[in-house]
Amino acid sequence: MSAPLNGGFATLADPTAPVRLVLVGAGGMGRAWLGTILANPDTELVGVVDLDTSLAEAAVSDAGLQPGEGGVLVGTSVSAVAGATGADAVINVTVPVAHHPVNTEALFAGLPVLCEKPIAPTVSQALSLAATAEASGQLLMTSQSRRYYASVAAFREQIVSLGRLGSTTTEFFKAPHFGGFREAMPHVLLVDMAIHAFDVARFLLDDDPVSVYCEEYNPSWSWYSAGAAATAVFEFAGGVRYTYTGSWCADGLETSWNGMWRVNGEHGSAVWDGDSAPRRQLVPHGGVPADVEVAEPMAAVPEEIAGSLVEFVGALRDGRVPSGEVHANVLSLAMVEAAVRSAESGVRVLIADVLEQAYVQAVTDETHDGVHQKLATWGSAAVGLAAPVVTPL
Ligand SMILES: NC(=O)c1ccc[n+]([C@@H]2O[C@H](COP(=O)([O-])OP(=O)(O)OC[C@H]3O[C@@H](n4cnc5c(N)ncnc54)[C@H](O)[C@@H]3O)[C@@H](O)[C@H]2O)c1
Repeated sequence: MSAPLNGGFATLADPTAPVRLVLVGAGGMGRAWLGTILANPDTELVGVVDLDTSLAEAAVSDAGLQPGEGGVLVGTSVSAVAGATGADAVINVTVPVAHHPVNTEALFAGLPVLCEKPIAPTVSQALSLAATAEASGQLLMTSQSRRYYASVAAFREQIVSLGRLGSTTTEFFKAPHFGGFREAMPHVLLVDMAIHAFDVARFLLDDDPVSVYCEEYNPSWSWYSAGAAATAVFEFAGGVRYTYTGSWCADGLETSWNGMWRVNGEHGSAVWDGDSAPRRQLVPHGGVPADVEVAEPMAAVPEEIAGSLVEFVGALRDGRVPSGEVHANVLSLAMVEAAVRSAESGVRVLIADVLEQAYVQAVTDETHDGVHQKLATWGSAAVGLAAPVVTPL
């Protein structure tokens, strides 16, 4: 690693060599990441870590690789496996409660981390991680994989042509039977799924939310214990009202996993069904509506987690701040926490209040001296999160 950039993160000493990666977490999503790492010519898998090493060994073997010495090293400690293999970086695909400890261990071992969403279970822990990234001088990036679609990029371009924006909506209606923890957890739709749409809304609108009012409920036939359906109305800084409405026990005419989107502005509207090319209709002031335009097929780009891996590798090579850098990502998690708080209290919640209360909590809870010092220097979440400038995708 070279020295950290001015106020930024360390980049790779040799930007042409394949990036040597340790994958942490060999569960369902970990296996998807393993395949994605192997398919990327700019990365090399050198180790897999899981509390259950038999899962890690099976994932490595099933991919046709040799687990252990001389092959892909398997272990239970990220710093031990990274140290023994001379790894450059870590991909963290553990369960959300393990994100803070695993990221912290890796960052202070001198390793940049690409971490699955959500970056942490709480905004307070996410702020601690942002300060940890600063204290360690390493890049911490959240993989918000639903930003990486050619059709999202095309939709974003169409939205720019709509002028000043008014309403934006996402309808998300699916009926998955996951079994396991999701069917027992509180606020399942908001916490486990809605963060994807909330994050994409920030990306598409290129703006941040200021408040939310949310109602959450569980349909009478729900196979989830709580909160399988919700409707949240966010106000964004530029005045846009973003409405997310969804259910996870909605059989029939299901939407895409990306949801169904509509954006209205002063010059017309754009819609995206979440899968195919977005459409736009411009209407000149007082004029005749133009023909509906379907976005031109965009050049093939790496999508979903393959896309976030490419952006992570690029950032480590040239120092460009990626869109999922932890400071920038905290607001997506704050949207979830604010929506949950509104659903519980029945009142409109300000995002700034969620951030500043989380900041006080983070300062109180922090046990690492260097991280505590960083947090204290911020003085507020607003100041701390304003630090890095994110380079657009
Ligand atoms: N981007 C997406 O579309 C998407 C989809 C599914 C899951 N996810 C995210 O991926 C992450 C993992 O989800 P999953 O479904 O694979 O979970 P999982 O439970 O199947 O796997 C998690 C693995 O992490 C391991 N683990 C837990 N704590 C650990 C620790 N401290 N050190 C090392 N290993 C540890 C567990 O043993 C398990 O094997 C979650 O953050 C989840 O939100 C994202």
